[in-house]
Amino acid sequence: MTEAPRVFGPEIQAAIYLRGLSGAKPDFPACFAELEARAKAELTPEAFAYIAGGAGIETTMEANRAALQRVEISPHMLGGAGVRDLTAKIFGVPAAAPIMTSPIGVLEMAHPEGDLSVARAMRNLNLPMIVSSQASFPMEQIAKENGDGPRFFQLYWGKSDALAESFVKRAEACGCKAIFITLDTTILGWRPRDLDLGFLPFLRGKGIAQYTSDPVFRAMLPAPPEENALAAAAHFTQIFSDPSLDWARIAKIRSWTKLPVVLKGIMRADDAAKAVSEGYDAIMVSNHGGRQVDGAMGALAALGPVVAAVDGRVPVFFDSGVRCGADIFKALTLGASAVGIGRPYVYGLGLGGEAGVKAVLEYLLAELDLTMALCGCCSLAQIRPDLLENS
Ligand code: FNR
Repeated sequence: MTEAPRVFGPEIQAAIYLRGLSGAKPDFPACFAELEARAKAELTPEAFAYIAGGAGIETTMEANRAALQRVEISPHMLGGAGVRDLTAKIFGVPAAAPIMTSPIGVLEMAHPEGDLSVARAMRNLNLPMIVSSQASFPMEQIAKENGDGPRFFQLYWGKSDALAESFVKRAEACGCKAIFITLDTTILGWRPRDLDLGFLPFLRGKGIAQYTSDPVFRAMLPAPPEENALAAAAHFTQIFSDPSLDWARIAKIRSWTKLPVVLKGIMRADDAAKAVSEGYDAIMVSNHGGRQVDGAMGALAALGPVVAAVDGRVPVFFDSGVRCGADIFKALTLGASAVGIGRPYVYGLGLGGEAGVKAVLEYLLAELDLTMALCGCCSLAQIRPDLLENS
């Protein structure tokens, strides 16, 4: 594993400004709006719509940004934060910072090496990646590229419990250190950008590599996916959705694995309290980046109430709408133990594969580090709610 740099902010800034002296601009924009605009110009319309789009008229996506903007930082001066320690432990797994890549499906639409590029970048940064159920490569292949890097597996629990069990056991066998069950996508949301292009990647055989490489899934097919890809894709669509999923069914996971189990997609304090009382190991506050329920509250607005309901009994993670290092700082301030990055790293991937993912993550690390320095925080423990306005 490569040693992670210790003073991310000044190092990364200096590298960019020094190159700039000879007239060179950074290969990847540090400004999110520019990053997104470049991804839009370079990706196919279908790929960009799939990545950028949300549910309905995209008010939940707007609410995610608005909730992050409503929270304002009130920096402490003269905090003596000359050295910052960003290192974190997530389920005992050491990481360079409390930052992970959230699971994102069909990364082959952004770059042919998709998840493999992400796995390499995250290994080199020593940051955890969450491998998606809808990845473009089998989890074992992603794990190989990720090597001794920290990784977790995200599970979509569809109609077949046997398939869910097989995914979980494969994930444990290939070195994933926790299972994130995504609760908010038991059926696909209403996504006008994709509908207007008539484009669903899975129907074209994209993003179903975990399934086509799985013995339980393969045994359900009339012919191997290599011989009849269409039948495999069609069968996937038959079994993916199961909005009847409930607390009783997901409890079965305990007999399949000893790994920590995280519930991703919790947005309410009562659901969070229930998750803790059912014995789950962590919660991830998320609304799937506004891709599922339109008209929902911004995810950051749910974080405080969930953290209060959990009351320190398990870690609470957060994603949805994070675009910069200050956003990460805000989520940490409100009690998140680690923060998931979504669309930004996918745009980096689209623009430059592994190098693009690395650059986007480094920018986030740099800005988080500088924000800590400027707010007087030497450690993550010092990122406390009193750093917020009106606290
Ligand atoms: C996702 N997300 C997601 N979540 C998950 O659990 N499994 C998955 O396969 C996917 N796939 C996926 C594809 C695309 C294109 C996007 C944008 C998102 C949701 C993801 O993990 C995360 O919750 C959101 O991306 C967070 O929102 P932002 O920060 O991207 O706006």
